[in-house]
Amino acid sequence: MNHLTTTDLLEHLSWRYATKKFDPTKTISAEIWAALEDALVLTPSSYGLQPWKFLVVTSQELQEKLKPLSWGQAQVTDCSHYVIFTIKKNLTAEHVDHFVARTAEVRGGSVESIAGYRNMMVGDVIHGARSLQVNEWATRQTYIALGNFMTCAALLGVDTCPMEGIDPAKYDSLLELPQKGYATVVACAAGYRAEDDKYASLAKVRFPKAEIVEVL
Ligand SMILES: Cc1cc2nc3c(=O)[nH]c(=O)nc-3n(C[C@H](O)[C@H](O)[C@H](O)COP(=O)(O)O)c2cc1C
Repeated sequence: MNHLTTTDLLEHLSWRYATKKFDPTKTISAEIWAALEDALVLTPSSYGLQPWKFLVVTSQELQEKLKPLSWGQAQVTDCSHYVIFTIKKNLTAEHVDHFVARTAEVRGGSVESIAGYRNMMVGDVIHGARSLQVNEWATRQTYIALGNFMTCAALLGVDTCPMEGIDPAKYDSLLELPQKGYATVVACAAGYRAEDDKYASLAKVRFPKAEIVEVL
């Protein structure tokens, strides 16, 4: 495996910015998009439970409907692919069992052999301390996917704009998510920057490293 150099990494991360103006004529190729979907799937989560679903919107008609529910932000309609990050609400033991069955399928071995791990997850996330805020817990996991997605996109030369300026409840109604047991958390527009997006050349505003990184 050829790892990136530190210079390459920092160049890619500096190249990335929250794109305000996408070029609506540019589309992410099927090959690159497939890799970005795989990157979403490969996102790590606590216990590996993956309490989420990523909705990929490429229908201009749907993007037009989502725009007014997103503070009118043009990124929603001008991007190539619009991803809505949702949580699976109120996780149950059934979800944990689904994950356990998948583990046995992928790694071999029996469901019984991982019963101890299964019971620990259920005891914590479904019935234990974490169950009191299980949707909040799932939401935090989903932000890991958002960060992973933006970084991977940047490494492939794809621009993104993370979007919290949305009305999650209205997204939910439009997409009929409550009936399906899911809820919107955040979204991310992906595509290619317009040449005249003046935000691309703005200096990054970050606190000095010494202020936010402390070596103990
Ligand atoms: C979770 C999250 C939500 C955001 N929501 C929006 C948004 O709705 N619209 C927007 O234009 N930028 C949004 N941003 C972009 C931030 O303002 C931007 O990332 C930040 O100012 C740092 O700038 P940079 O990403 O260009 O380095 C969001 C960023 C994050 C991480």
